[in-house]
Amino acid sequence: VHRAAIGIFDSGIGGLTVASAVARELPNEDVIYLGDTARLPYGTKSAVTVSRYAARAMELLLGHSVKAVVVACNTASAHAIPALRAATDLPVIGVVEPGARAACASTRSGKIGVAGTEATIRSGAYQAAIEAQSPGAEVVTVAWPLLVPLAEEGWTDHPVTRLTLQTYLAPFVEGGVDTIVLGCTHYPVFKETIRSVLEEDFGGAEIALVDSADVLVGDLACLLADRDLRAPDRAGRHTFFCTDAPERFARVGGTFFSGGDLGTVTVLDL
Ligand code: DGL
Repeated sequence: VHRAAIGIFDSGIGGLTVASAVARELPNEDVIYLGDTARLPYGTKSAVTVSRYAARAMELLLGHSVKAVVVACNTASAHAIPALRAATDLPVIGVVEPGARAACASTRSGKIGVAGTEATIRSGAYQAAIEAQSPGAEVVTVAWPLLVPLAEEGWTDHPVTRLTLQTYLAPFVEGGVDTIVLGCTHYPVFKETIRSVLEEDFGGAEIALVDSADVLVGDLACLLADRDLRAPDRAGRHTFFCTDAPERFARVGGTFFSGGDLGTVTVLDL
C-alpha cells in the first residue's frame, strides 16, 4: 500500500486545473502541488532557462514523499521531459502528448489549432506530437502569452480578457480549425469565455476546446494501476506549496481548484 503522493508542478496556479482533475478522478490519492510563483512566467523564457527551472521545481517536489511526477505545465513539458525523466527513477508524465492525443481524437477536419505560450509554440513539441499521432494533420499555432497574467489576476471573464481573446481567436477561425488545444494549463479557466467570444464575435464558430487534463488523468490512473502504486481507500490529502507570495497564490488559486480553499500554502525555498 502506497502512501506517497502524486507530485504536480507548474509555474503558478495554471497546473491547479490539472490537480483539480486528479483530485476529482482519483480522490484517494494524496496530491502535493508546487507553483513556482517566484519564476513565473516560464512561457516567455528560453529553452535553457525553462529546463533549469523545471529541474529545480521537480527537485523540490522530490524532497517530499512522491511516487509519480506530473509536469502540469506545457512549457516545461515541451522542453524538459527527457531531462526530467533522466533525473529520477519515478514515472514523469507531461501534458503535451496527452493534449496532442486528445486533439487528434477530437478533430474531424484534420485542422487543429494549438494555443500555448511563446516557448511552447516555438519548441514545435505540439506540432511534432500531433504529426506523430495523425500524419498529415494541419496545425495552426498561436501564442497566447497574455492569458497567463490574466489568469493569475483572476480575470477570467473581464472585458480586457474578451478583447484579448478576439485577437487571439481570429487566426484560428480564419484558418478553419475545428479543434483548439488549450496548450497551457492556465487556459482551461477561460473555456466559458472562449466559447462566449466564439459565439458573439465569430458567428458561433463550431470549435471544440481540448484540455490535456482529462486524458492525462486517465494515463495516470493506468500507470498507478500497472505499477501497483494506487493509494488505499481513504480521502486523499492535498498539500500546496509555492516559491513566493503564498497569500496571493492561495487567494487566486482557490478559485481554480475544484476543492475551493487551498488551506495553508507553504513557501519552499528556491
Ligand atoms: N501554465 C504554463 C504552461 O502550461 C506556463 C505559464 C507560464 O508560466 O508562462 O505552459
